[in-house]
Amino acid sequence: MKKIIAANWKMNKNSKEAQETIQELSNILNNTLPEDREVIIFPSFISLEASVQCAGKQSVLQFGAQDVYPAKDGAFTGEISPSMILDAGAKWVLTGHSERRHIIKEENTLVGQKTSFALAGGLNVIACIGETLEQREAGRLYDVLSEQLSQTLAKLPTPLSPERLVIAYEPVWAIGTGKTAGTEDIVEAHAIIRELLKDIIGTSVFQTRILYGGSVKPENANAILGLKNVDGLLVGGASLKADSFAKIILA
Ligand code: PGA
Repeated sequence: MKKIIAANWKMNKNSKEAQETIQELSNILNNTLPEDREVIIFPSFISLEASVQCAGKQSVLQFGAQDVYPAKDGAFTGEISPSMILDAGAKWVLTGHSERRHIIKEENTLVGQKTSFALAGGLNVIACIGETLEQREAGRLYDVLSEQLSQTLAKLPTPLSPERLVIAYEPVWAIGTGKTAGTEDIVEAHAIIRELLKDIIGTSVFQTRILYGGSVKPENANAILGLKNVDGLLVGGASLKADSFAKIILA
């Protein structure tokens, strides 16, 4: 399975800036990726379609939305459906990002509904989970990951090809703080997730990619990618500049 290097641009870049970064990234990469890598970019909703078009049909870059609502259409002011995301030319979506859980107060149940509805609607999903510092220090790492994972994956559509569902482990205390989780923390959490996935999705568990996210930079990307059960990276701050994100892709 290829390693996924994903860029979460969060609420950054207008359409013009997004297109400039995509252009610059495509030039640096010469539209080629290392054989064992996949790259997915998550711009804001409003620059998603322009980003896809700027990259062009032959691009090695894939695209996704940062959120989705679990309904086909209807009276859901401000929300976006899976088919709208597909229509914009994107194939992926993030669910359960910690900023949505903590700032927007999204609950596990809603994250689960989003995950299953998006998968059933034809999108591939990167579902994010991770503990706060308080939860970690209270010794609740296993319980928090178990609760988040089981509720996020409570109603997966079947059959489901394993490459369409990806888990991102992002310890909340490492996101945007410059504080990367230590090697042992990452290995421990990814092993727990792999084990939990065995119970939830069974035999295809080894084909389910688990990404690490939280203060990934060009300087630490290669070491993290080499850790057991780490199948890729979800990058925030260091993905905003084409040259730094390219270094992570090529790490
Ligand atoms: P960061 O963000 O790389 O800026 O820590 C990661 C994320 O939130 O996905």
